[in-house]
Amino acid sequence: MLSFQGENILSVNQLDRDCIERIFTVAKNMEPYAKKQKCTKVLDGAILANLFFEPSTRTRVSFGTAFNLLGGGVRETTGMQSSALAKGESLYDTARVISAYADAVAMRHPDAGSVAEFSSGCDVPVINGGDGANEHPTQALLDLLTIERELTRFGGNIDGMHIALVGDLRYGRTVHSLSKLLCHYKNVKFSMVAPDGLQMPDSILSAVEDAGHQIKLVNQMQGNLAADIVYQTRIQEERFPSQEEANKYRGGFRISQSIYNTHCKPNSVLMHPLPRDSRIEANELDNDLNANDNLAIFRQVQNGVLIRMALFALTLGVENKVQQYEVDVPWFSRKRDS
Ligand code: CP
Repeated sequence: MLSFQGENILSVNQLDRDCIERIFTVAKNMEPYAKKQKCTKVLDGAILANLFFEPSTRTRVSFGTAFNLLGGGVRETTGMQSSALAKGESLYDTARVISAYADAVAMRHPDAGSVAEFSSGCDVPVINGGDGANEHPTQALLDLLTIERELTRFGGNIDGMHIALVGDLRYGRTVHSLSKLLCHYKNVKFSMVAPDGLQMPDSILSAVEDAGHQIKLVNQMQGNLAADIVYQTRIQEERFPSQEEANKYRGGFRISQSIYNTHCKPNSVLMHPLPRDSRIEANELDNDLNANDNLAIFRQVQNGVLIRMALFALTLGVENKVQQYEVDVPWFSRKRDS
């Protein structure tokens, strides 16, 4: 089992079911701090280098928020052009430099394997915030925590569930990482719902099959969304060889309230890693679903903060000291009672 303290979190391949459950236990203990009902200074003096060389809203801000909520400080760089990588500096040299400043690193980069390459020159824990079309392990963990919590509402659990993964399964790294994590569970039924050309890579399908799960590969949503979890993904336009190629798929797989009523189960939970592409010609997860109680997309976001707090606490070895460093919360926050 991963010891966590001082370790990098680069891939879901590092995690077995015990590790996942340990992360979830620590994450759930973080809830009062994330809701600002309590404050902790357990990482007072520690610095996170939040290095995002590819666009991000949720992952970047929630890594920073998670570190701040534990009492630590955050220094960021956003975009390739605003870093010395644009001047030809290697990932290795950048890592050696950042090691002199920071106690932990969160990083996103457009190239598969780049975060692992960076970590080889870094002597503080590095957490992968997404490397190209490869992996997004913290997203997979927050998705899995969300699935567990949503299914519990209806008396279900992850073992034995039916999940429909919908959209761009080829380039969508979140569904790659999530499928691999689900290999640690039992009897999961997968419907892989993707247009021709954007199906799940064979390596992931093999892993899912080897785990003993059922897989149905289909190229249309009609008749294939009656699952416990319907997980929609964005067409990852930035990873296509050309915009013309990406345009062929735009708007092909849209879920609206009317599609939900016709094709999903009465309590199918709708998930999406976000951002959802809300441009009119894409509109992959319609705004008319916003009032649907089973739309879990913003609960996923909240769970992301918990997961990232848990990973910082575990990799920096303070998961059992969070309460010891608690301080009063003198200021008003509307989040405290929610
Ligand atoms: N889900 C996710 O990775 O979102 P961002 O690209 O905004 O970080």
